[in-house]
Order: sequence, then structure tokens, then C-alpha cells
Amino acid sequence: MRSYKNACCIFVIFGGTGDLTHKKLIPAIYNLVKEDRLTENFAVVSIGRRIKTDEEYRKELLDSIRKYTDAEIHSSLWEALSKKIYYMSLNFNDVQGYQKLKHFLEDLDTRYDTKGNRVFYLATAPTYFDVVVDCIDANNMVDNRTSWQRIVIEKPFGSDLASAQYLNKKITRVFSEENIYRIDHYLGKEMIQNIMFIRFANGIFEPLWNNRCIDNIQITVFESIGIESRGAYYEKSGALRDMVQNHLFQMLALTAMEPPKSFSTTDVRDEKVKIIQSLKGFSEEDVHNHVVMGQYVSNEEKNRNILGYREENGVSETSDTETFVALKVLLQNARWEGVPFYLRTGKRVGKKTAYISVQFKNIPQTNTLYNQLIDPNLLVIRIQPWEGVFLKFNVKKPRSAEDIVSAKMDFCQNCHMEYKSPEAYERLLWDVMKGDSTLFTRWDEVEYSWRFIDQMTKCCKGDRQKILTNYEVGSLGPKEADDMLAKDHKKWWEV
Ligand code: BG6
Repeated sequence: MRSYKNACCIFVIFGGTGDLTHKKLIPAIYNLVKEDRLTENFAVVSIGRRIKTDEEYRKELLDSIRKYTDAEIHSSLWEALSKKIYYMSLNFNDVQGYQKLKHFLEDLDTRYDTKGNRVFYLATAPTYFDVVVDCIDANNMVDNRTSWQRIVIEKPFGSDLASAQYLNKKITRVFSEENIYRIDHYLGKEMIQNIMFIRFANGIFEPLWNNRCIDNIQITVFESIGIESRGAYYEKSGALRDMVQNHLFQMLALTAMEPPKSFSTTDVRDEKVKIIQSLKGFSEEDVHNHVVMGQYVSNEEKNRNILGYREENGVSETSDTETFVALKVLLQNARWEGVPFYLRTGKRVGKKTAYISVQFKNIPQTNTLYNQLIDPNLLVIRIQPWEGVFLKFNVKKPRSAEDIVSAKMDFCQNCHMEYKSPEAYERLLWDVMKGDSTLFTRWDEVEYSWRFIDQMTKCCKGDRQKILTNYEVGSLGPKEADDMLAKDHKKWWEV
């Protein structure tokens, strides 16, 4: 294991006044301090366009930590950290202004002995990603000979293949692939990291993990919130680009990949990318049969004050952007030949939940031993809000002669008060500082996922109005998503 000393750096946040910095980044840094992970040789420089003093900025951050985390704030810890947080006002496209930043960082290097090491965190709107990289380059702020400089890019990494390629070209001119950290915060979630352990550390699962024993796999990520104040962004992205291209595909890759040779960054990413690469492309006919898109509409009776998507701020009254999508995808490889993977995600659904259900092949229903239909075995990996794993199996109903009921073996990781999983960002920021990019997306993964999404959306184009349907706020999505599985004689597992 690398020493904590490797984390010695200045953490430079572009977009220091934004929501992400307030709600996720600074609370995560505070927790790292609390766990005593950050050394003395560490400072944060937050950059925003507004003018404010360090003191004003620090106070705003403290308010946010109080508001957005349930962490107990130790005033001495906050005091110590906040002294190392600086605010600088700079227009992201002001090339000359970066000289001032460069000199300021060099001064801080002397003060904190941070040796020129930098994490440049782009928490800005995506339109500034390439602008900031260009300015960093123009001011020779990347050296990588006697020190290291890493860049963290928030999603979305492009909005299609061409824009992702453009952005990647810009960034790789300045940073090498090993110093580029494309963040997908789902990879920082405890139970998503756990998928590889559940699969590969258990002799009872791995031998069954293939098309001989598995009937289908379902990945569900539901949110009860709507688009909040992100109408303009969401109109262009929709659920497919906002969630499927990144979070759901990463979950799919971890669930379906071959065992890596080791847990090294390269071995894990090599196996993940093969899954994205093996996704079977969609034809126009597939789009009809294997894709359902929906948009939430208000439910006058039940949720009177919750707006429908088209009434949200920044959304067109005639918008055809999907806020729900369900897909059936197939993987073209020997392990998964013929096994459908059903993915679904949606906003303003009745519950916030994320889980993966692995449905095993059932015993033959013509079996004459039992005179009732038997439910298949199910292994469910719960990602959030409950974290854990459960296995559903069949037992004799107590006191009956031969009736069968379903039973559940349930491991709940966060049911116990003493266990609290770290926030995804905590793990990810820590990994960036240590220089471990295993839980970040490599360029080829991004590239293949956009190839698939682009090809699919091209096939949807003419049909968009036809495949887009409505669902009520608070429901479990459009009925058509259920019909899609019913055609295959299957159903979504609601857990
Ligand atoms: C983000 C999406 O990447 O993930 C949001 O842009 C979504 O639209 C969020 O709400 C969901 O993350 P989580 O961690 O709350 O499941």
C-alpha cells in the first residue's frame, strides 16, 4: 500500500462556488481530515468567478458542511482545515489571470511543502473543461518531471462520441492518460466496489455466473427527485446520457466482466472495457422492441405540487427528452450469449433505489415433484439506500405437506448504526491524491460507451415520438417497460 505521504499536494478546484464543491467535495475533504488521512502538506485553492474573501468563502463552506452532511463538526478540525482553504477569483478563460494562480500555488508550495504536486479538479460547467485545460497548458502549469499534476473531470465527458473525442484530444495534449481521472461517482459507492468481491471471492457464485445458470440480469437505478434546477443541461442529456452511458454501464461492466488477472488498475479496466465493447449494437427494429423511454407528468390527485417534466424550469413545453429509460441489451461473448441484461433508470419515480438482480434459471416447470409454480432463485445486490446482498430461495411452508414459499437470506451492510459507508467522493478524492485510477473511467471505456449510445440514438431518431411515453410522478415508470419484459415472459424484480 502506498504511504499517505503520497497525498501531499494542492487541490485546485475550478468551480469553487458551485453545488458540487459545497455539497460533495469539501465535505469529503473534511471527512478525510477527520480520518487523519491528509498530511500537513496539503492545501485547497478554490477558484470561482465571484469576488469574495477567504474568510467569507470559508464561512460559506462551513454552512454547507453543516447542511449537507450528517457528520459531526469538530471545531478544532474545521479550524485547522479551513486555514488551508483559499479562494481566488478568476475567469476560467482569462489566460493571463492563470499567471497569478500559478504564482499563488508556488507560494503555497513553499508554505506547505507540497512540492509542485497538483490535483486540478474541474467542477465547472462542461463548456469550460477544454478552456481550463488550454489555460493551464498556456501557463506551463504541468511539469510531471519532479512533481505530479493530475486532472479530474466531472461528467459528462462529452455528449456524444465526437464531442468526447474532441475533449479527450484537448486533455491528452496536456495530461497523459495516467494523470487523467474521469470521475464516475458510482464507482466510489461501497456496494459497487463490492460487486467484484461478491462475485470473485465466493466459490458458490462464480461457477454459476454465466448463461448456463443465469436467466437474466436487471439493473435498476431509480430516483425520487426530479431534475432540480438543471433543466438546461437535462434537456440535452436525458436519462440515457445522464445515467446509462456512465453509471449503469459501469454497473453492467462490473457485473458481467471476466475475473481480472489482479486488482491492478490496468487489469480491472481491461476486463471492464471488453464488456462495453461487446454490447450488441441496436437495429431500428431493436429500438422498437428493446427500448422504452418515458417522461414524467404530474399527477393532479396524488402529488399536486410536483411539476411534470415539461413544466420544469428550463424545459421546453414540447420537449421529447426522456426522464426514464428501460433497455434490453445483449453481450456478444461466450459467457453471456443469450442472456438479456435489462437496464432501467428514471427520475421522479416512487422510490429512490439502486440494485442489481441476478435471476437464476429456474428448475423445469414441468417438474412433477411440486404441484405449484416455483419462483426462480434471485441474488440481489443492493447499492442504495440499503447496502447489502440477499438471496431468495424456496423452502417448504412450515406445517404444510408440500407447499413452497420463498425465503430470503439477507445481509444488510448499513442496517447497523455502527457501520456507515463513506461517501463516494471521499474514496474517489483520496484515490486521486494517492494516484490510484482504478475507480475512474479509462478513455476506451468512454469511447465504446458513446459509440453504443450514438448508434442507438441514431436508430431512435425517426421514432422518438413513438417510443416516448408518459408516466406519473411517483409511479414506477411507464407500463411499457413492464410490457417489454412480459414479451420475454419475465418481470422486473421490485425489491
Ligand atoms: C448524476 C446525475 O451523475 O447522478 C444526476 O447527473 C443524478 O442526474 C445523480 O441525480 C444520482 O446520483 P446518486 O448518487 O444520488 O444516485
